[in-house]
Amino acid sequence: MLKDTLQQGQKLADAALERLLPQGTQVPPSIHQAMRHSVFAGGKRLRPILCMESARMVAGDLPKGVEELGAAIEMLHTYSLIHDDLPALDNDDLRRGRPTCHVAYGEATAILAGDALQTYAYEVLARLQCSAEQRIRIVEELSHATGTIEGMIGGQVMDLEYEHKRADATTLEYIHRAKTGALITASLLTGCIYANANSTELQRVREFGRAAGLAFQIADDILDVTQTSEQLGKTAGKDVASEKSTYPALFGLPKAEEMADRLINEACSALDSFGARAETLKAIARYLVERKK
Ligand code: IPE
Ligand code: IPE
Ligand code: MG
Ligand code: MG
Ligand code: MG
Repeated sequence: MLKDTLQQGQKLADAALERLLPQGTQVPPSIHQAMRHSVFAGGKRLRPILCMESARMVAGDLPKGVEELGAAIEMLHTYSLIHDDLPALDNDDLRRGRPTCHVAYGEATAILAGDALQTYAYEVLARLQCSAEQRIRIVEELSHATGTIEGMIGGQVMDLEYEHKRADATTLEYIHRAKTGALITASLLTGCIYANANSTELQRVREFGRAAGLAFQIADDILDVTQTSEQLGKTAGKDVASEKSTYPALFGLPKAEEMADRLINEACSALDSFGARAETLKAIARYLVERKK
């Protein structure tokens, strides 16, 4: 059941990305090929899936065109990965089972490919098949979540500043909520906005996202020390080598696992008022911490 949901969501997101992204032959080809190299490299598409499933939970059915919102979110996420891997940030050479963008296309093109995925995402958002008011709220939510104030870029800045020194629990939680949790929450919320959710529904989903988003990054930290590079499609053991502040480093593996599990229980409770319609999102939330890659 969950496997089918994930597979179908992945297919829908991939098809929208394929349709929306410029072809690799489009001038200038180098940048379009670099963008496609990183986007079509076997990402799990979890953010588009969370977006589409939260829209389905609110509306009862998948609202028409919501996969384009999911695709725009995946472009933002992929931009963050390309930049995260750059020599000046995490300096990684493997991503989604392929050489990272800068290894394959050079650093200048990789920086620009990340930039391009970001600006193109907003072009797609501007054309979403919903009302102008919904589009503006969606743009606000996503730009804030990827920005510097409790958003992705702010979190990335602190993540780098806390390499080689230990963040305390409060700081580490802030970093994880910002660099990863914020975009996950925004993926869910924008799906809800697209589906015309009311303010109570939005609040419940925000609580769900806040807990599940933090749990997701704790799981990412755990996978870094428990899996191999082949399993992950990215360099395992990287956080230890670069002395990153992580949950397993600060609390130890068993405690980190326990914290992630507790957060998922908390996340699921936030959706109880949706009744049976929340079952899919709850199952995905559990998968976020049980996944093996
Ligand atoms: C990796 O995200 C980066 C983090 C924010 C932890 P994912 O684990 O969703 O990576 P892909 O999209 O499947 O490659
Ligand atoms: C990534 O955190 C967060 C963002 C890309 C915003 P990590 O640096 O832990 O992600 P991975 O492990 O390289 O995928
Ligand atoms: Mg990083
Ligand atoms: Mg990294
Ligand atoms: Mg990581």
